[in-house]
Amino acid sequence: MHHKTTIEPFRIKVVEQIRLTTEAERRQYLKQAQYNPFLLHSDEVIIDLLTDSGTSAMSANQWSAIMRGDESYAGAKSWLRMESVIKDLTGYPYILPTHQGRAAEHLLYSRIGGPGKVFISNTHFDTTRANIEFSGATAVDIPIEAGKHPEVYHPFKGNLDTEALEQLIEKHGAENVGAVILTVTNNSGGGQPVSMANAAAISEICRQHRILFILDACRIAENAYFIHQREEGYKEKNYRDIAKEMFSLADGCIMSAKKDGLVNMGGFLALKDLDLALKCRTVLIITEGYSTYGGLSGRDMEAIATGLEEVFEADYLNYRIKSTAYMGEKLREIGVPLIWPPGGHAIYVDAKAFYPHIPVEEFPGQALVCELYLKAGIRCCEIGSVMFGRYDEDGKLIPAAMELVRLAIPRRVYTQSHVDYVVETFRELEQERDRAHGYRITYEPPFLRHFTARFEPVL
Ligand code: F0G
Repeated sequence: MHHKTTIEPFRIKVVEQIRLTTEAERRQYLKQAQYNPFLLHSDEVIIDLLTDSGTSAMSANQWSAIMRGDESYAGAKSWLRMESVIKDLTGYPYILPTHQGRAAEHLLYSRIGGPGKVFISNTHFDTTRANIEFSGATAVDIPIEAGKHPEVYHPFKGNLDTEALEQLIEKHGAENVGAVILTVTNNSGGGQPVSMANAAAISEICRQHRILFILDACRIAENAYFIHQREEGYKEKNYRDIAKEMFSLADGCIMSAKKDGLVNMGGFLALKDLDLALKCRTVLIITEGYSTYGGLSGRDMEAIATGLEEVFEADYLNYRIKSTAYMGEKLREIGVPLIWPPGGHAIYVDAKAFYPHIPVEEFPGQALVCELYLKAGIRCCEIGSVMFGRYDEDGKLIPAAMELVRLAIPRRVYTQSHVDYVVETFRELEQERDRAHGYRITYEPPFLRHFTARFEPVL
């Protein structure tokens, strides 16, 4: 079996044309976008690796379910179906639909956050942190040590440091901890998986101290695949049962269905506790919509219900994780420095190591993002000092811990030849390393600057 290529386990029924631009055209487009790929138009892009969120290709079954979408305001059949699929998967009795993950975060963290509260996570995703901080609370990240070192191998680099967790609980007092949030897989830490043993240990600590334990479950199927592969005792279990076991350890979850829900829009909050669910439901009805649709149309809910079933299919998950690993392995073979081993949904390139001659003040990650676009029309995202850099009192840059570039892989969208094209592009960029130059910021907004900042080349 092992010598065979892992093929895409689907045939392509509908195609979306890619416009093949020239390098001269791209030079013009990137200049117009002021060297920020977020400002490019999508038809100026050949391979779009900006995010795996909301970019999945839906299946024929999802599209046919969409035709059955029941658009009734209250109690729609499509809602009952989505609710029953989620209840069955998570084991949680109270399900609150939302238009995407961050809306679910808002429902929960606006109710349990507030000044004086501390939230603890392996790593809070940006929107999670933003929702917590917006409530006046504090968010603390405690990944294990291996999670902070790109080159160190660990099978579960997404794990949370349970010793640090106990110390933090001691320091702040259990009553001040709003929740422990376990992000599976750990997106900001490289899409790395979390082990069942780690989730179980966190569950135990939270139970002892009566602290709420929430899973950020948007990539839980991908995480289940890694547990099956790497953790003792899970070889015989199917992916869905592994996910169910993980849900059973927590008190609730938030899920952006735009990832492992295999849809373009949607999400939910699911909880064990009725009182908490009722509190959040009030915010749901005020901000998202009535409790049987949240921000979703009936057809969206049908697509989510079907997507949550398809994502656990063994052939799908095998293809999904193997194709991400394929990109990582090929890039590593040609000497591209990466977070290792590859995670589930993306490859993270260490741009500081790739362009050692570009100082962090001139954003080596942004340089790589721009070079990938110019050379081949590949769009991806800087996760370094453009995204997380701060300034000190003298206006000097305090750089991020790492200068990464994320190549996020949309689900069921690109084939192996698209991935080979990305690898070839890196090979060309490696040969022309010395020609790459840094960038300086010419405009930046006060928050989330990576989305709208503008740049100019430092020549
Ligand atoms: N939690 C995690 C771990 C995420 O990766 C995301 C989104 C969210 C929550 C928020 O969900 O977008 O539906 O509101 N991540 C996307 C990304 C945006 O590109 O990684 P959302």
